[in-house]
Amino acid sequence: MSKRKILVTSALPYANGPIHLGHMLEAVQTDIWVRFQKMRGENCIYVCADDAHGTAIMLRAEKEGISPQQLIDQVNADHKRTYDGFLINFDNFHSTHSEENRHYSESIYKSLRANNRIAMRSITQLFDPEKGLFLADRFVKGTCPKCKTDDQYGDNCEACGATYSPNDLINPRSTLSGATPVQRDSEHYFFKLPEFSDFLKSWTRSGTLQDQVANKLSEWLDAGLQEWDISRDAPYFGFEIPDAPGKYFYVWLDAPIGYMASFRNYCDRSGVNFDEYWNPDSQAELYHFIGKDIINFHALFWPAMLSDAGYRTPTAVFAHGFMTVNGKKMSKSRGTFINGHTYLNHLNPEYLRYFLASRLSDGVDDLDLNLEEFVNKVNSDLVGKVVNIASRCAGFISRGFDGQLSHIPAAPELLSECQAAATEIAQAYEQREYQRAIRLVMAQADKANQYIAEQAPWTIAKQNPHDPQVQAICTTGINLFRLLMTYLKPVLPAMSEKAEKFLNAGELDWASAETLLLAHRINTFEPLITRVEQSAVDAMLAEAASEVEQAEQPAAVASAADSHLLKDPIAGEIEFPDFARVDLRIVRIVEAAYVEGADKLLQLTLDLGPGPDGQPHLRNVFSGIRSAYKPEQLKGRLTVMVANLKPRKMKFGMSEGMVLAAGPGGSDIWLLSPDEGAQPGMRIM
Ligand code: 2FM
Ligand code: ZN
Repeated sequence: MSKRKILVTSALPYANGPIHLGHMLEAVQTDIWVRFQKMRGENCIYVCADDAHGTAIMLRAEKEGISPQQLIDQVNADHKRTYDGFLINFDNFHSTHSEENRHYSESIYKSLRANNRIAMRSITQLFDPEKGLFLADRFVKGTCPKCKTDDQYGDNCEACGATYSPNDLINPRSTLSGATPVQRDSEHYFFKLPEFSDFLKSWTRSGTLQDQVANKLSEWLDAGLQEWDISRDAPYFGFEIPDAPGKYFYVWLDAPIGYMASFRNYCDRSGVNFDEYWNPDSQAELYHFIGKDIINFHALFWPAMLSDAGYRTPTAVFAHGFMTVNGKKMSKSRGTFINGHTYLNHLNPEYLRYFLASRLSDGVDDLDLNLEEFVNKVNSDLVGKVVNIASRCAGFISRGFDGQLSHIPAAPELLSECQAAATEIAQAYEQREYQRAIRLVMAQADKANQYIAEQAPWTIAKQNPHDPQVQAICTTGINLFRLLMTYLKPVLPAMSEKAEKFLNAGELDWASAETLLLAHRINTFEPLITRVEQSAVDAMLAEAASEVEQAEQPAAVASAADSHLLKDPIAGEIEFPDFARVDLRIVRIVEAAYVEGADKLLQLTLDLGPGPDGQPHLRNVFSGIRSAYKPEQLKGRLTVMVANLKPRKMKFGMSEGMVLAAGPGGSDIWLLSPDEGAQPGMRIM
């Protein structure tokens, strides 16, 4: 069968703040789907980017005293780091402020204009005379014209629920400067969306949307569509509209085009043919994973623009619900607004991936991260059920049989049943019914545990650890474990990688479930995942709460950079024993080299002084200091490293530790250097 060609996207996160767990819900949902497709051997490409335009980004850069470009570069690096930490395997992560995006935004706009789909007319808006800016509704506050409650936003009243135009507010004021806004006219550009009404009525009913979503859109379509205002006046951070000096594309015009731009950037690197995916007669599949709040942009404006500009439209748009924490909307004041990096400071990413998978369905219902259930679910399923199977069987095989699995398993019928489950589990993944997939996998895990408990190989082994019966039972157990890890691999990529090492038979893919591992030598079992500790969850919540406090104290907000580290210099205190666990060493950089394909990294060989055998103890470390140092400047130099950091597998190889440096980034990164008299290997006290 020929491979499917699939292009998948997650919504582009705004470049004005860090990635939080709400973003992660979507990224994990998408990533599981993409990994599943790749495991099946399909040709599946996953792209994303930062959504880098708009007034909010311009204002934030101004507040921090940096250029928008500097801001979005910093945020881009931060976003990439966080997604990476959650094992989100993008094929490309780009930015909407890119040449590719400028190209496609201009060319799509020009096609729409040539097709007479753009209207121009003057509109009246509130203008902040002090800032010299037109004010979006959220930047205006005043008294509700209906119930007269003060301090209400420009578009609706939180007290009485009335919706109105900011022009109707009583005593309006700009939230940016406090000035009283004035009314001012300006020319705007509109996309004539109503002309696409018939097209959209059929497109939204052609299997492209979930039923619930299509029904909601029908209401809007029946009520009649409005023309869409796609221009914003200078000053604005974005792309200037061709032949319209001082007018910029509204951020939402070029945001979805950012999907194409990121893909184009990927094509240019990889040689994939862009047109095969975007031509109107393309046979490739195109899927957008998005939150339910941005359906209109993806299911109305976007297909209308694409079809009119001569491109294919999405195969489907998959909307999901919001994430709540402990039953409530994530809230800064409740301390439940959890940023991705805060989570990663305390907890294993695969805990969250697993928990989300166990709750995700193909619908738009909200998903609650109840933290007590999170701890219980992960501990009882992953540690108590899945890992338990391998850890109960592996020792008998290595001790009694030199790691060798038997030729014939003890319970072939149980294995066949577990193998047969692959079809239904695959269907569940394909349909984004991950909750069902996990339920099916755990039902098999329960049977496996029951089998091992009944056979009790430990009782037989007590009499004779070399009894072939022990080998056959444990071979069955380890094969069941292998099948379960195959099924869980889209959700738990790192844990599966450890399982692959243990099983010693190459990478698991979906077809692995068709075979068994027999008469084969496995490796020693190493723990695959540890229990989630409630104390780690508590520490994460404490850090989330302290981040909010820090952010609310203006003095703590660094003026220079985005980095949460700067904004939050002492978030998440640690106890002295935590600090004492960090093994800091003086090391000599004996080799330094560029890393092909990594524009930020240098590969360092570090000498930690003589090892027990008297030979230099060398470590390989990748360090993100390329912007500040040339390799030849580093050779022979002493610096400080964290020597007991768990080795981390990076794209380019294992990184066995971390070199310590300070500074804001770019060419200003300073390696921590020890004083004279220091020798490699010395511990820092
Ligand atoms: O809602 C958001 O966070 C937007 N930045 C999503 C953009 S998705 C796509 F259209 F670019
Ligand atoms: Zn009101």
